[in-house]
Amino acid sequence: MTPPPPTTPPTSPPIDPFAPARLGPLTLRNRIIKCATFEGATPEALVTDDLVDFHREVAAGGAAISTVAYCAVSPGGRTDRHQIWLRPEAGDGLIRLTGAIHDEGALAAAQLGHAGPVANAPSNRAPAIGPGAIPAPMGMGLTDRLDTDDIPALVRQFADGARLAVDSGFDAIEVHCGHNYLLSSFLSPLLNHRRDRYGGGVDGRSRLAREVLEAVRGAVGDDVAVWAKLSMFDGVGTPGRGRGHRRWSGFNVDDACATAQLFESDGFIDALEPTAGSSLLNPMYLFHGTPPRAEFAAAFSGVMRTGLRLAGPVFLKHYPYTDAYLLPLARELRSAVDLPLILLGGITDRESIQTALDEGFDFVAMGRALLREPDLPARLHADPATRSRCVHCNLCMPTIYSRTRCPIRTGEVPDPLASPSD
Ligand SMILES: Cc1cc2nc3c(=O)[nH]c(=O)nc-3n(C[C@H](O)[C@H](O)[C@H](O)COP(=O)(O)O)c2cc1C
Repeated sequence: MTPPPPTTPPTSPPIDPFAPARLGPLTLRNRIIKCATFEGATPEALVTDDLVDFHREVAAGGAAISTVAYCAVSPGGRTDRHQIWLRPEAGDGLIRLTGAIHDEGALAAAQLGHAGPVANAPSNRAPAIGPGAIPAPMGMGLTDRLDTDDIPALVRQFADGARLAVDSGFDAIEVHCGHNYLLSSFLSPLLNHRRDRYGGGVDGRSRLAREVLEAVRGAVGDDVAVWAKLSMFDGVGTPGRGRGHRRWSGFNVDDACATAQLFESDGFIDALEPTAGSSLLNPMYLFHGTPPRAEFAAAFSGVMRTGLRLAGPVFLKHYPYTDAYLLPLARELRSAVDLPLILLGGITDRESIQTALDEGFDFVAMGRALLREPDLPARLHADPATRSRCVHCNLCMPTIYSRTRCPIRTGEVPDPLASPSD
């Protein structure tokens, strides 16, 4: 007998976050990516055993990909001289690093970037560059305007850096188009006032990022995954033009949707990782939660420390933390493009992972929760009820200047979740 037709349309079963999944040419063992958290473990701008151990631990903890933060494409593209820049001399260490990640069953991604106005020029002994002469507070100066004639050389640096990373064993390249680093400073209408083809509307402001993505894809071929970490909102003004927009608003979610559509139609990337906030103008928008004002100021000396103490409440604002706090903005991007999306920002437990997947995101990324507990993915797999012990205190944030760590994990700060018997 023919069964009666169903009265409700069949719904597809929820996606299992721990089943293997494709990201471009790669098969990931699950849908959790460790996002870039600058490790502060490269004092000589070369890979150290410490950096290898950091990523080995993440990979052993179950994430599908460990992202090596901030591999600069040139000496002046570093935020300071203690960051790796991609050059042949760095190759042997990078091979050791990717080997350690692979040995633990994970894949390795390199975050490729140029700091632009976030660079500390005196430390780098190279000028900071930007779309025009804009403040570069880390070096207490202004950026040099990147001349149109110099853009092809910069694009080539990204391509060469990507090739070196892949030759050193990286499976994926993340191009940093966020946080008002160089490519993101070009995207921002607040920072980019150029009148040439690299300024103006979204088309012009996104041109540099698009040329970089094309060059990176050309350099690495189709066997490597390439994605862009793209800001949705600088955290200045209002998140969208139609929402009480003021003229001085920075890059916002409407710009981000238009940019993402251009990236998609170009066809050079396999995914997008939406982010928000600005290392230059509004760092706390990246993180939400308690701003570590005193600890941040204490990480500096002299004039910077005094300046940060005075400017703390303005520079390090407080945004209430909620799990998956970037989801409302990221949903707009989800509606704008078909590209696979990696949701980040307050992803810590099975509920937030499942919400992301149910809403059409393809992967999630975790930062602070894995600094607190690198083995969280494996534990979430074994027991879906596992709760993260990250309390979003953001005390990890200023540790980038002295070897990145969770001060609760190291015992430098008492664990607010500890029970009296712990
Ligand atoms: C200590 C620390 C260092 C970070 N360094 C970087 C970095 O080098 N590059 C980057 O794109 N984002 C960096 N981030 C931002 C994270 O990648 C991520 O966008 C942010 O922490 C939000 O994700 P979460 O809620 O999972 O921590 C850093 C975050 C932290 C906490």
